[in-house]
Amino acid sequence: MAYRDLRAHLSALEEKGKLRRIKKEVDKDWEIAAVCRQLFYKIPAERRPAVMFENVKGFKIPVVAGALGASREIYAIGLETDSVEGINRKWDQALEKPIPPRIVKDGPCKENILICDRVDILKLPIPIWTVGEDPGPFFTSPYVITKDPETGVRNVGTYRMEVKGPNKTGFLIGKRQDAAWHVRKNDEQNKPTPVAVVIGADPSIGYVSVSKISDSLDEFAVAGALRGEPVDLVPCETVPLEVPATAEIVLEGEIPPNVREMEGPFGEYTGYMGPPGQQPLFVIKCMTFRNNPIYQAFISQRPPSESSCIRGVGREWPLYKHLKYDLRLPIKEVRLKEAGGSGAYVVVSIKKQFEGQVKQVMYGIWSLRTGYGKFTVVVDDDIDIWDDFTLDWALSWRVRPDRDVYIERDVQAVGLDPSQAPPSVPQHHPIRDVGSRVAIDATRKHEYPAISLPPKEHLDLVAARWKEYGVSD
Ligand SMILES: Cc1cc2nc3c(=O)[nH]c(=O)nc-3n(C[C@H](O)[C@H](O)[C@H](O)COP(=O)(O)O)c2cc1C
Repeated sequence: MAYRDLRAHLSALEEKGKLRRIKKEVDKDWEIAAVCRQLFYKIPAERRPAVMFENVKGFKIPVVAGALGASREIYAIGLETDSVEGINRKWDQALEKPIPPRIVKDGPCKENILICDRVDILKLPIPIWTVGEDPGPFFTSPYVITKDPETGVRNVGTYRMEVKGPNKTGFLIGKRQDAAWHVRKNDEQNKPTPVAVVIGADPSIGYVSVSKISDSLDEFAVAGALRGEPVDLVPCETVPLEVPATAEIVLEGEIPPNVREMEGPFGEYTGYMGPPGQQPLFVIKCMTFRNNPIYQAFISQRPPSESSCIRGVGREWPLYKHLKYDLRLPIKEVRLKEAGGSGAYVVVSIKKQFEGQVKQVMYGIWSLRTGYGKFTVVVDDDIDIWDDFTLDWALSWRVRPDRDVYIERDVQAVGLDPSQAPPSVPQHHPIRDVGSRVAIDATRKHEYPAISLPPKEHLDLVAARWKEYGVSD
């Protein structure tokens, strides 16, 4: 049965040993970020849990982090499956057969309603993430709900929010994000953009929120199909939008038209500080929340992180599908490497049918508006793309740089890429828009000599008799 809410999801994680409750008092202004970082340094992915800070100094509200993607195993639990194939199947069904949300009259997210002057987001335990560099606390896991003013299609996207006062935040909405178009269209009419921000909900909503989904699809319908049941939505109190009925915390308000304020800098998913820039504001008119709400945060900043995990897993299947089924290329596997924030560095294995096909793969990746693949590496299907050593081996010995490296100039860049411009150049400056990409064809272009390893049957035989050699484990 689908998780009803964040609480049911956390219980499932706890049952599977994937949630640790931290009872020790922690300071949200430095300690939460450092504990989350050590969680990634100290515990390998397969054993890494999500964490619940139950005792945040000065606050009654607990903070949960890592619940959507401290590891791929945790991502699978969020989708009620246990394998990569299971995750892919869920995404496939969700994009093929969305299940429209159900509008209901009431829900637990209305247990407490604060309007106008009573709104105070400073009462939420919002952590500071890059201490000494960020100007203050940021929401890292908002599910930002807007509607296209022309089509009425709902969108959910995660765009970080800088806390600027009890009822005010900044937003970083990338130029090509769906909500950026909504704001632009409303700005042209000099109309405010109604916004609802959800903090903490059933995991399917988080997974769609951070994934690129066609702007013609209602993202709650995709979330419904991911969880296998419609998402129940309740109307907001003050804006013409709907939010998940079981959300932990909801902020309602608007983005005033044609108003911009300085936002940032912020410790980014690239692993560097992102520059400040002029960004829209979010003015909050109403805050609703459940009794004993839970504050959910995503662990981001330098990869590996929860951010790079949830971006990567949600992007690999659509990219694989695009290449394999839409373009009919002989793809074996696709990997968005986390070091590249699950976007900049793409590795693909193919069963190459003819020379020149690698270029079709690279243009297939580069044609997407997502800006993937600043580094695109294509290998033969005998290379395990999940094993970095084998990948380096292919790059070392199957590439002749003068022939196999392609550089594409003057293409869409990722604005937050620190190689685009020095930190003094603000976000969204045109110099950040256009960059270049490289593809490396690491497939064999002619017959290759035999691989210099003992025959497989010898290796298997020795493995079966391993104990007899007395060489430990
Ligand atoms: C932790 C996290 C933080 C993110 N922060 C931002 C952000 O501040 N601004 C932004 O434009 N995209 C951000 N993204 C990426 C978007 O959430 C992602 O591109 C998503 O597809 C946007 O939704 P949309 O496609 O409906 O516009 C973030 C992703 C994650 C996982």
